[in-house]
Amino acid sequence: MKILVVGTGAREHAIVHALASEAAAGGDAHDLHAAPGNPGMGRQATLHAVDANDGAAVAGLARELGVDLVVVGPEAPLVAGVADAVREAGIWCFGPSAEAAQLEGSKAFAKDVMAAAGVPTAMAHVCTTEQEVADALDAFGAPYVVKDDGLAAGKGVVVTPDRDAALEHARAALAARGAEGRVVVEEFLDGPEVSLFCISDGAAVVPMVPAQDFKRVGDDDAGPNTGGMGAYTPLDWAPPGLVDEVVARVAQPTIEEMARRGTPFSGVLYVGLALTSRGPRVVEFNARFGDPEIQAVLARLRTPLSRVVVAAARGDLGSLGPLRWSDDAVVNVVVASEGYPASPRTGDPVTGIAEAEALDGVHVLHAGTARSDDGTLVSAGGRVLSVVGRGADLAAARAASYAGVAKIGLQGSHHRSDIALKAERDEVRVP
Ligand code: AMP
Ligand code: GLY
Repeated sequence: MKILVVGTGAREHAIVHALASEAAAGGDAHDLHAAPGNPGMGRQATLHAVDANDGAAVAGLARELGVDLVVVGPEAPLVAGVADAVREAGIWCFGPSAEAAQLEGSKAFAKDVMAAAGVPTAMAHVCTTEQEVADALDAFGAPYVVKDDGLAAGKGVVVTPDRDAALEHARAALAARGAEGRVVVEEFLDGPEVSLFCISDGAAVVPMVPAQDFKRVGDDDAGPNTGGMGAYTPLDWAPPGLVDEVVARVAQPTIEEMARRGTPFSGVLYVGLALTSRGPRVVEFNARFGDPEIQAVLARLRTPLSRVVVAAARGDLGSLGPLRWSDDAVVNVVVASEGYPASPRTGDPVTGIAEAEALDGVHVLHAGTARSDDGTLVSAGGRVLSVVGRGADLAAARAASYAGVAKIGLQGSHHRSDIALKAERDEVRVP
């Protein structure tokens, strides 16, 4: 098939890598294209310098190329209506409409859908004034959770024991959006977090395997939130039956509620959960695969990814059957540039990728990389690479991934050294 992948990150590179790997596994060889892509994706796909957020441009490119399918990776193009533009051009698209992507685009909208669908989530107040925020903080008590209502690349959320810091974040978020300003104040959820990606065609739901992300920048969850510093799968510590329970209590009712509203959701419903002492609770919905989790999840997928995305886009997911998975463990460690997340430094040479990929079970996905004028690979963003290691168990997968990270050269770069460490040591507990 001819497939166009939209986006520039390691998530999109993981999608391209999975599609390109089908041939080696005895499946189809696809003609892959990316808009705009990144230098890593350029090894497996033809790159096109088209703005990912410009629906008319993406649809135009898809038509010009005559692709069978467009896969939209990130949230920004989805919220901007790129999937709508592609479908209007008569081309199959994997990814929700702009209206359906509001499940991610607006936390207040997501809360409203969850309430209507009876989905277990944190109690929340949507606030438009500082006084409402103060009242809500006092109603829930510490630790405080304050969320900016709009898209904020994972950085719009503050979780803090400090009431003044919580108020200050709310004040800044309200001020930044003027009269439209809204913040969501929530009850604190205890317990480990899980990401479960549920594929939907607007009616049926097919779950992937759960994964865990590491959002804080430093080891032992120190420092500020980031877009995600690493991930792993499987989660041997998760309660049996978790996936079935989340599909039945969260994903299926949400997909039904979206259809009932006349805005069916097709694509990936990313269910971010906390496994609390009172059972699983939804922390957030996203409208696309999680980055860095999908880099690990796709490394275990045995069903050809092309079959999954085509079935979802065409509305015949019911014919796909359950997905098949390898028993391997996979660990993805993100290599970030100096200063990330506050002020990432860019333009430094990146080396060692070929050496890392020469190791058993290691592949490297690009995120914030670019080619300088003389062709040197340089850093171009906060999260620069995803180093993905696989092995028979988490210990082997961690060893592979970290051996790969050790080969990477990037001045001032940093990474977490404890991705999947507690799981490897069987120290993750559901309260
Ligand atoms: P979100 O953008 O909603 O996913 O929030 C980002 C991160 O903040 C989550 O992954 C959690 O680590 C944390 N967080 C969000 N909501 C809560 C909550 N109600 N209780 C505890 N932690 C939360
Ligand atoms: N892994 C966090 C996210 O993709 O939002």
